[in-house]
Amino acid sequence: MIPSVLPTYNRAPLSFVKGEGAWLIEADGRRFLDLGAGIAVNALGHAHPALVAALTEQAGNLWHVSNLYQIPQQQKLADLLVEHTFADTVFFTNSGTESCELAVKMARKYWYDKGQPDKTRIVAFEGSFHGRSSAGIAAAGSEKMTKGFGPLLPGFTHLRWGDHDALQAIDFTDVAAILIEPVQGEGGIRPLPDQCLKGLRKLCDDNDVLLILDEVQCGMGRTGRLFAHEWAGITPDIMMVAKGIGGGFPLGAVLATEDAASGMTAGTHGSTYGGNPLACAVGCAVMEHVADPEFLSGVNARAGLFRQRLEGLVAAHPDIFEGVRGMGFMLGLKCRAMNTDVVKAGYDAQVITVPAADNVVRILPPLNLTEDEIAEAIDRLGKAATALEQATA
Ligand SMILES: Cc1ncc(COP(=O)(O)O)c(C=O)c1O
Repeated sequence: MIPSVLPTYNRAPLSFVKGEGAWLIEADGRRFLDLGAGIAVNALGHAHPALVAALTEQAGNLWHVSNLYQIPQQQKLADLLVEHTFADTVFFTNSGTESCELAVKMARKYWYDKGQPDKTRIVAFEGSFHGRSSAGIAAAGSEKMTKGFGPLLPGFTHLRWGDHDALQAIDFTDVAAILIEPVQGEGGIRPLPDQCLKGLRKLCDDNDVLLILDEVQCGMGRTGRLFAHEWAGITPDIMMVAKGIGGGFPLGAVLATEDAASGMTAGTHGSTYGGNPLACAVGCAVMEHVADPEFLSGVNARAGLFRQRLEGLVAAHPDIFEGVRGMGFMLGLKCRAMNTDVVKAGYDAQVITVPAADNVVRILPPLNLTEDEIAEAIDRLGKAATALEQATA
């Protein structure tokens, strides 16, 4: 009999009743160190007092009015995002997937309105992840996500990650945009080198193509800058955001330059819930923390320490781990053992990590993870690795 919850996930046998900072607690009181943060979502950890205050205060006043009316919390969050990024304008969604939908629509509408309606193709990359909607799976293109769901949304081309020759060889006549994650998340924590991001920006400029960055996973302070592309010193035309921006409350956004957004006039897009008062009240509280340069320099310092300690862990367990990759608190342990076994052994050691493609275990902790918690994380990951070594000895 089919379970009452549609079984599209292989869920771990864990169930948490409470969260406190970087800790998740089961009903029996067992405490797990959360290095997954709900897949890079709980940017400030669980039950952060500022977020709880923002949410509860707003909950006592007004939850939802729809976008037919002014929403001051939405206006404030848009102003904050515009102040701190390349963007001139913001549309709020409820998820990364919805941000992908709008990013694709915006790019196509841009060229349509410029009198080039045939410029519709989106060039994307193998190993990427942009969500599970029809546009999201067509953009990512992998068989795992698309098989059985055809006919797929047309107009996407996929290049191998890092295949510069294929990029240079593209005929850009009908290309609306290049869509890429500056750091692939689901694909196995693969950062795009700064040089490549710079090269992509130039390629787009030279060929009249928009650059869409998917910063759903790598944005909102995760790499130690507010957005990952800042490391390369470039800016996109359109950017997808979600996950960390709501700190655990469902919220996403599409940020764009005035020019790139020029086709999106009244009536061209909408969302009943997107940018509702509750989500945006929390989003403002998240932004006030994460956009603070002092907060970000703390992320860099602690993430550097964590990485160093992870290198030591890898050296101490060469049969289990192969190396560390990633940026800031978006780290990946490339495994020699099965990554899913490492994650499971972590559950026994009461530490939460998340598997990714390419046999990688993702480490995406709350951005305010402390030095003591880093030491605890290394200890628990070490216990997990030792248990796996003993099991295979
Ligand atoms: C890079 C990236 N884009 C888009 C998405 C889709 O976001 P959501 O699951 O919020 O729809 C994800 C989710 O993991 C992601 O990592």
